[in-house]
Amino acid sequence: MPGAYNSNDIFDVNGDVVIVTGGASGLGLSIAEVMAANGARVLILDIDQGGLDACQAKFQASGLALDVAKLDVADIPALQGAIHAAAERYGRIDAVFANAGISAGSGPFTEFGEIANVREENWNHVLQINLTAVFATIQAASIHMKRQRGGRIVVTASVAGLRAERHVGYAYVATKAAVVNLVRQAAIELAEFGVCVNGIAPGPILTNIAGGKLRDPVVAKPYIANVPLARLGDPDELKGLALLLGSRASSFITGTTIPIDGGMTAW
Ligand SMILES: NC(=O)c1ccc[n+]([C@@H]2O[C@H](COP(=O)([O-])OP(=O)(O)OC[C@H]3O[C@@H](n4cnc5c(N)ncnc54)[C@H](O)[C@@H]3O)[C@@H](O)[C@H]2O)c1
Repeated sequence: MPGAYNSNDIFDVNGDVVIVTGGASGLGLSIAEVMAANGARVLILDIDQGGLDACQAKFQASGLALDVAKLDVADIPALQGAIHAAAERYGRIDAVFANAGISAGSGPFTEFGEIANVREENWNHVLQINLTAVFATIQAASIHMKRQRGGRIVVTASVAGLRAERHVGYAYVATKAAVVNLVRQAAIELAEFGVCVNGIAPGPILTNIAGGKLRDPVVAKPYIANVPLARLGDPDELKGLALLLGSRASSFITGTTIPIDGGMTAW
């Protein structure tokens, strides 16, 4: 097909139905923006009503449509119900970004973060959002994608799921490592249905995670020291990778997690 491999064609998501969890802020918002800017119909599921309202106003000001629903991904029946309702409403789901995630607090070289002080309640809460809800998102999306024989699932993992990270908590590294293997496992099952499952592993990017602590230069300094590009990432810098994995440009990529980390994992 002449022209079929032009960038206009292979990254074309015009009319695609895309769901982004945790899309009202940070990386999820960047994902929602790039998919909508390239023609996708985007639904953001997020717990933050104020953030959702702000997103809708922002998208409207740019002439982009956006659907939103307030939802706590920790509520698994509500999460899966929202995905099934979206499939019914739009008739299909082309891409799902399982992106919602939270910090587990500080790392093991702080009093709060050292192994003896990790509290079961915090551990369970982080597991529910960063792991169980990601699994539930993949599970619900896969039902529709199998039926339509195609789709793309993208999980936001972390460089902290690829190796130890001194600045982040135990539950965070455990859940992010777990989703990297969840991606592989779902990818091998869903491959025969034309469903690709991949992960993104960001390094430190300036968002609101952990109360936006990276905005404090003193906190940011040791993170930056681990990044060969010697700076924090900007959420906009995720857009290229999100569009790649959310479009047919990545049609032969599945079961992998791609770092986007300023070179951090190259050390
Ligand atoms: N920013 C980084 O440096 C970085 C690095 C690696 C991985 N990540 C991952 O990126 C993802 C997005 O984080 P971010 O940095 O954009 O943070 P962020 O706090 O800016 O955005 C997270 C969004 O998820 C939403 N959310 C949180 N808990 C939720 C819940 N229970 N139900 C529904 N929505 C919920 C928040 O309201 C927010 O809109 C997370 O999975 C995070 O672990 C971030």
